[in-house]
Amino acid sequence: MKSTLAALIALGVVATVPQAFAESHADPVAARMELMKDVGAQTKILGTIAKADFDADAVQAAASALHADAQQIPAKFEANEMTEKSEALPAIWENFDDFKDKAMALEVAAKSAMDATDTATLGAAMGQIGGACKACHEDYRLKK
Ligand code: HEC
Repeated sequence: MKSTLAALIALGVVATVPQAFAESHADPVAARMELMKDVGAQTKILGTIAKADFDADAVQAAASALHADAQQIPAKFEANEMTEKSEALPAIWENFDDFKDKAMALEVAAKSAMDATDTATLGAAMGQIGGACKACHEDYRLKK
């Protein structure tokens, strides 16, 4: 279990960061979608750990990556640009302060996962994280 998680995290770090960086210069829509994919990947890792054995190093790695991702959300969504593939709603740019507050809520939730010390505290943090995803997606992501 531990080695699988470590491998996942290692992959996430080596594969997503340089790619997101390269894309952020070329295409803001692809870059923000890439950021959200990493948010999803880190959350999945945390969810897997919450249901298995607590692994402090793996939690720390995924939670701090999620925290860093959350901090990047406002900047990555600043450009009011759309493509056909994007699920972003125009409401984002009509309520950008509220959108930023919802990104901040994810940042705070990720911080509580960083502070988790066992499966129970991680589980509580996961509830907060899930709530933060849902609150933002409900208002600002196209439902398909
Ligand atoms: C502050 C708002 C906000 C928060 C918080 C947020 N999201 Fe998102 N998310 C969005 C928006 C907007 C999109 C659509 C972006 C686009 O398609 O341009 C999106 C898209 C996604 C996608 C699709 C990415 C793709 O294009 O393949 C995933 C996966 C995702 N979010 C997961 C999550 C998870 C998991 C969380 C919580 C841990 C979360 N998001 C929190 C706003 C948010």
